[in-house]
Amino acid sequence: MTALWGGRFDDGPSEAMAALSKSTDFDMRLAPYDLEASIAHAHVLHGAKLLDADELERLTLVLRQLREEVLAGRFGPQPGDEDVHATLERGLVERLGELGGKLRAGRSRNDQIATDLRLYCRDRVTGLTTKLLILVEVLAQQAERHVASPMPGMTHLQHAQPITFGHKLAAHAQAFLRDVSRLQDWDVRADVSPLGSGALAGSSLPLDPEAVAADLGFTQCAQNSVDAVADRDFVAELLFVTSMVGIHLSQLAEEVILWASQEFSWIELDDAYSTGSSIMPQKKNPDIAELARGKTGRLIGHVSGFLATLKGLPHAYNRDLQEDKEPLFDACDTLALVLPAMTGMVATMTVNTERMADAAPKGYSLATEVADWLVRDGVPFKDAHEITGRLVMHCAQSGIELDEVSDADLLNVSGKLRPEVRDVLSVPGALETRKTSGSTGPTAVAAQVKMLHERVSRERGWLAGRPPPLTHEAPSRA
Ligand code: ARG
Repeated sequence: MTALWGGRFDDGPSEAMAALSKSTDFDMRLAPYDLEASIAHAHVLHGAKLLDADELERLTLVLRQLREEVLAGRFGPQPGDEDVHATLERGLVERLGELGGKLRAGRSRNDQIATDLRLYCRDRVTGLTTKLLILVEVLAQQAERHVASPMPGMTHLQHAQPITFGHKLAAHAQAFLRDVSRLQDWDVRADVSPLGSGALAGSSLPLDPEAVAADLGFTQCAQNSVDAVADRDFVAELLFVTSMVGIHLSQLAEEVILWASQEFSWIELDDAYSTGSSIMPQKKNPDIAELARGKTGRLIGHVSGFLATLKGLPHAYNRDLQEDKEPLFDACDTLALVLPAMTGMVATMTVNTERMADAAPKGYSLATEVADWLVRDGVPFKDAHEITGRLVMHCAQSGIELDEVSDADLLNVSGKLRPEVRDVLSVPGALETRKTSGSTGPTAVAAQVKMLHERVSRERGWLAGRPPPLTHEAPSRA
């Protein structure tokens, strides 16, 4: 094993030790970030007069070449390399001899890995936000088409009150926008460079952590070197946000699965975003939604698992922290796969507006309208609730819906139910009355959709201020 240590050991690591310790299978993804941080570190060593100008130039040239080689797949780990840092130092030494070994001055893998991971996370946050905003935009576009399309609004999965389909889709968009702002909040806290903290105690060499921070695009360097190498809050937080995104996707997915079922038949998924069955030729399955729902389980697993890893750690670097990478990478990869698929599915689904509208008044969902009408007519809500309840019971006994009652039926239940109540006993009539901001009526929903579009363009402005990601979101699966 090419280790970055060994002087004080008589013997090399056992096979079992090496196998357990090795992380190149997954941490090579951080190579471009590690190299970026190395370039910044080389400049600082030059500033500290620990590298002359010629050495700096040769080092930075080779670090850049290594980056190209790694990205092109021409340079990678050898079986004996312990981790990404060992691999890259080997590459440097192979190319530069003794000079390659100079770069390690004043830094430790502890501050290196913490820096690499923050840089990686910041790139993934850019990518994730980009994808979330496309999903929000697509939800807003579908919502725009359906600002006045009635559907049954449900609570407890029971018909409650009619709402518009646009309102329902916009509700999901609101949840994803909160996730966008969670990522932006995360970014503020993650904007700290650990480089210069060394193993835990900072450095006796005249380094310049502020300059390194600025070079790497961080607005500040760590105020405490122990905390800087121990802190993985930024990983835990990001895992939480990815879980929350997953949960929101899963909730949308669950509704799509219901709406696409034979019994509902409110939407039809596009062929390109559905799958068939190997045995039943007639089947069209909502697999995207099911995979989104299913994969959310592992996102939640990652956050709880990693929190457990952190729980008992003495506040410093401990090797346990190496366990941060696989869940983090998997969470980011998972969302990078699921988000575009869910977005395409939502963009292309078609809506059976008639069938959905037919269902809207079913289950006495207009009952609240009757109660509200009575209140506007001066009846205390307590009595209005009681009278309306009796009307619903009458309908249930006669096997009719609320919009089918006669004047006589109304009068029979209560003298307060004048024939004019019929004005609110229509779904479009009921929807029309819900005008206040955030309500489900067509005008309020149109206003909401406009605000969604405005938010998307504002957050795209935030994205435009970020540096382009150094690496691609996920290794291609094709
Ligand atoms: N590979 C380690 C990690 O991912 C970084 C190296 C720090 N190792 C050490 N023995 N100090 O956390």
